[in-house]
Amino acid sequence: MKVLVTGGAGYIGSVVTERLLAEGHETTVLDDLSEGHRDAIPAAASFVEVDLRDRAALRGALAGRSFEAVMHLAASCLVGESMENPGKYFENNLSAGVNLLEETMPLGVDRIVFSSTAATYGDPETIPITEDFPTEPTNSYGASKLLFESVLAWYSRLKGLKWIALRYFNAAGAASEERGEDHDPETHLIPLVLKAAAEGGEVQIFGDDYPTPDGTCVRDYIHIRDLADAHLDAMRAMERGIEGPFNLGNGAGFSVREVIQVSEAVTGKSIRSRVAPRRPGDPPSLVASSKRAREILGWNPQRGDLKGIIESAWQWHLARPDGYRSAAT
Ligand code: UFG
Repeated sequence: MKVLVTGGAGYIGSVVTERLLAEGHETTVLDDLSEGHRDAIPAAASFVEVDLRDRAALRGALAGRSFEAVMHLAASCLVGESMENPGKYFENNLSAGVNLLEETMPLGVDRIVFSSTAATYGDPETIPITEDFPTEPTNSYGASKLLFESVLAWYSRLKGLKWIALRYFNAAGAASEERGEDHDPETHLIPLVLKAAAEGGEVQIFGDDYPTPDGTCVRDYIHIRDLADAHLDAMRAMERGIEGPFNLGNGAGFSVREVIQVSEAVTGKSIRSRVAPRRPGDPPSLVASSKRAREILGWNPQRGDLKGIIESAWQWHLARPDGYRSAAT
């Protein structure tokens, strides 16, 4: 199949591209390289560098090409930042997505896998979270993703577009020593904890007075490779007429303190931490039920163990302490 991957230079998109190529799909990456890395894009993929917000440039960049499916991962995705700069989130995650639909459907696209998020649920009353829970985001990031899901439902109803939204819980780990997590600035817990382990720095724990067993926030960490595989399962499922949102997580929650403890075991180093104020927009606890993805998409995650996830991230950190700026080993 001819597939366009937006955000294919990013942490998750580059691994999705790697998996598509491995299964023989003709794959084109679209990215503006504002946050992604040119070196993360697998060599066998075509590359189009364009900003999705610029509709005329997008049309020009895609002229003469054709695609059957889109995997739409390009996005701004930081909860904290979205509470300071909501405009960035609605522009990048909502308006840019509409441009993408309008410019790719005339090129033959009739199905889309959309990278959505657990942040669509807000602060659920119970866990694990199933897809029929209320969607009441506590941050503008989750709101922007939820709005684009409803745009997709309207395009399905009015234009026949087939869609699946994958609501990721916390993506973590590295696919290999070639592809791993590298954000600038880094704000995610696991890479910050591992950096502190390697360099002797201090981890800030954003709040220890949440209603969770140890007072720190609980998240469901999912290996990047399992996450990527779900995109291929979703693409196949749309051929069977399946649509809608699907959660992707492991169904096990770990607190910030537990992540630090497991990281100490993996790295063999003691990691210093100190409690800091809560980060605005953070829900106390997000843990998935992914029963629907397993049963309907046939998703079969293989790397759910947190220790293994952190081990893969640690191997990546050791191989590339400065991410893609480090020379490949
Ligand atoms: N945290 C700290 N200290 C840090 C960094 C994070 O205590 O230095 C805490 C956060 O407050 C949060 C947890 O660790 O409770 C995880 O934080 P991350 O920043 O790693 O991830 P988030 O849960 O905020 O968000 C991630 C993605 C989102 C996605 C969400 C889904 O960035 O895109 O997971 O759960 F929507």
